[in-house]
Amino acid sequence: MIYLIGFMGSGKSTVASKLAQKLQCSYIEMDESIEKQEGLTIPEMFTQQGEDYFRKKEREFLRNTKGEAVVSTGGGVILSPENREILRRGTAVYLHADWETIVDRLKNDTSRPLWSGDEAEKKQRFEDRLPLYKETAHHVVVVDDKAPAVIAEEIAARL
Ligand code: S3P
Repeated sequence: MIYLIGFMGSGKSTVASKLAQKLQCSYIEMDESIEKQEGLTIPEMFTQQGEDYFRKKEREFLRNTKGEAVVSTGGGVILSPENREILRRGTAVYLHADWETIVDRLKNDTSRPLWSGDEAEKKQRFEDRLPLYKETAHHVVVVDDKAPAVIAEEIAARL
């Protein structure tokens, strides 16, 4: 399993889909799969069931997903020690985007429940997670300003 990890807006889904095409294997988008399974969008899940419910579904999904695929994870997947262990059993690739890049990419985004609150709160979330992405990753790829196809190429060359 190849897992792409990284903060919201780092481009995990686009890159994962390109990488899967390149490697001729399946592509799994975790958030989309959980949304389908639950019949709710992520924002609906957060509002109606709460974040803990979503995190539980996220852990279950990761635990039960086996085989060979490129998996695009949600930005908070690394918060759980159990998840970090599963990610480490496969190949975990961290897509690192700088804070300024994330802010720019998500400036009009209203679809992410945890891209909320004031700027300081968002930045704190980004900084708190950085060490977790780094400690989990087998490979770190800096994504700022690179096209998704170029990033996929770079990852493929490192596998
Ligand atoms: C989350 C990121 C989202 C989604 C959920 C929580 C997070 O995925 O899983 O809204 O905690 O960072 P993306 O990273 O694809 O936006």
